[in-house]
Amino acid sequence: MRTASLLKKLNLDISEFEELLFDHSIVSVTDETGDIVYVNKKFCRISKYSEEELIGQNHKILKSDEHPPKFFTELWDTISNGNVWDGEIKNRKKDGIFYWVKTIIIPIMDSEKNITNYVSVTTNITKEKEIQERLIKMEEQLIKQNKTLLSEVESKSAELVKSERLATIGTMASRIAHDLKQPLTIMYTYAEMLTPEILSKLDSKDKEKWLRLQNSIFDMNRIIEDVLDFARTTEIKKKKSSLLSILRLSINHVKSSYGIEINLPENDVSLRCDSRKIEGVMSNLLNNAVQALDEQGEIDVTISSDSKFVTICVRDSGSGIPEENLEKIFEPMFTTKKTGTGLGLVICKSIVEQHGGSISVRNKPTTFTIKLPL
Ligand SMILES: Nc1ncnc2c1ncn2[C@@H]1O[C@H](COP(=O)(O)OP(=O)(O)O)[C@@H](O)[C@H]1O
Ligand SMILES: [Mg+2]
Repeated sequence: MRTASLLKKLNLDISEFEELLFDHSIVSVTDETGDIVYVNKKFCRISKYSEEELIGQNHKILKSDEHPPKFFTELWDTISNGNVWDGEIKNRKKDGIFYWVKTIIIPIMDSEKNITNYVSVTTNITKEKEIQERLIKMEEQLIKQNKTLLSEVESKSAELVKSERLATIGTMASRIAHDLKQPLTIMYTYAEMLTPEILSKLDSKDKEKWLRLQNSIFDMNRIIEDVLDFARTTEIKKKKSSLLSILRLSINHVKSSYGIEINLPENDVSLRCDSRKIEGVMSNLLNNAVQALDEQGEIDVTISSDSKFVTICVRDSGSGIPEENLEKIFEPMFTTKKTGTGLGLVICKSIVEQHGGSISVRNKPTTFTIKLPL
């Protein structure tokens, strides 16, 4: 307001002091509606428009559409009320390229305080803005990188703590398992002697007690075997083997019941593998399937192959694995069973991967799929 009235009072003709005062600035004058009535040379140079092209045009010709509408509403509110506006504007040149200016807009009034013109004096700050934008981008990138690094460090340290704890537990458990194995083998041998014929000679109360003892010994043996298998990281010894023979042998370690039917494939594939270990994998998967069936149901094992891989599927008619557990079942010590160790699938995965293969699972029907290179 003060500047505006000062200019008015001085009654200055802009063209007279243009060279002197505005040599370093970009200057334009519009009428009260924003139509350009004057531009200096610098204005033409930066906007890439000629003086003829600009005179008579509305100042909007430079609008970049990069500011929200509110920006210009506020600008017009300020100057049309006779106040000076200053700020930074992003404009568009004739060739479409943007440029930033630091601007001051002064309203000029006549004696009745009616606005007759607006004078705008601006400086080009495009370079500064570019540097500022680059700095902001760099800062954003740094913040992002920092976040990624932080979360990586967090997850790595969590992994370390977990694996260290697992290693300690593993060593301890395998030592205990090792010590228990010998007396357990004796108990297991005697428990196996309790055939149905012998048990039938006992009265029903005693029979139940002996059966429970036998089952507990079998359970203990399975747990100890799991732990020992887990701790054992012997190298695999591959030799040409018949997959069907491996499957047949694996059934010997499966504790099934009469209501469960296990269907083995009729076709066979010959592959190079550590047959003892693959046998262990198969009996693990079959035992899991049996346990999922609850005395009744069917288990189908199928084999298919192409020139490079053999695919073994173990499918059971059980109720499946809850969706939220699907990711966890291959983690050490994840079990949903009362006497489970949660080591079976970890052992399977490790053996399959040692063979250069993969193991996966899906529901409906519950199917474990093993892919092994031939
Ligand atoms: N065929 C299956 N059907 C349903 N759940 C299964 C099956 N196989 C594995 N699981 C789930 O995966 C878990 C982990 O299996 P595993 O590693 O063999 O350990 P464990 O048998 O000692 O529990 C099981 O406790 C069970 O919840
Ligand atoms: Mg198991």
